[in-house]
Amino acid sequence: MSDIVKFTRMVDGDRDDYMILEQHERDVARAVGSRLLDALHALDTVDSAYKVSRYEHSVQSATRAWRDGADLDWVVAALLHDVGDLYAPYNHDEFAAAILRPYLRDQCTWVVANHGLFQRYYYAHHFGGNREVHRRHEGHPFFDDAVQFCERWDQASFDPDYQSLPVDFFRPMVDEVFSREPYQQQVIALGVRRPLLDRSVAERRASEPA
Ligand SMILES: [Fe+2]
Ligand SMILES: [Fe+2]
Repeated sequence: MSDIVKFTRMVDGDRDDYMILEQHERDVARAVGSRLLDALHALDTVDSAYKVSRYEHSVQSATRAWRDGADLDWVVAALLHDVGDLYAPYNHDEFAAAILRPYLRDQCTWVVANHGLFQRYYYAHHFGGNREVHRRHEGHPFFDDAVQFCERWDQASFDPDYQSLPVDFFRPMVDEVFSREPYQQQVIALGVRRPLLDRSVAERRASEPA
């Protein structure tokens, strides 16, 4: 079996061809985590009118999640929630959620997918808009989680004096998440809620050197 397919039109491909492609796609998928960290670095290259870059905002959000005792899925969600800013400025939340959906708990993906709407609470009224627009999701099982995600991690992470952990601290977590078998039922865990905050884990992490 060679490493390149024989066909020029998909209709002419045979089983060997599609086995080659399947293997190749798996190899490409294995590097998704490190490519996303590269994409995160790219957020540093764009001018920001905030006091911190989108990259620092992302690492700061993840650091706050880590220091709150959040679990792996939450920390990676916090780190990558704005990774689509450069490519999808008007629906960056959906963009990030689409990337995360095969690998993260449904709860975290839902919050990332909707965080743009929930963030409006902090600024929409300054433009005469409705800051309560997130209430259309009231009653959703993850509503309170999205409120807390924005309050504790997202809207709070624009502080140039905050001591964030280095991004490499999060690399093994990103690698672990993106080496999961995609769309595993146990990982996606439809409807399952895990707390964003775990005080005993937070205290333990605070007492250990990062
Ligand atoms: Fe965002
Ligand atoms: Fe954000």
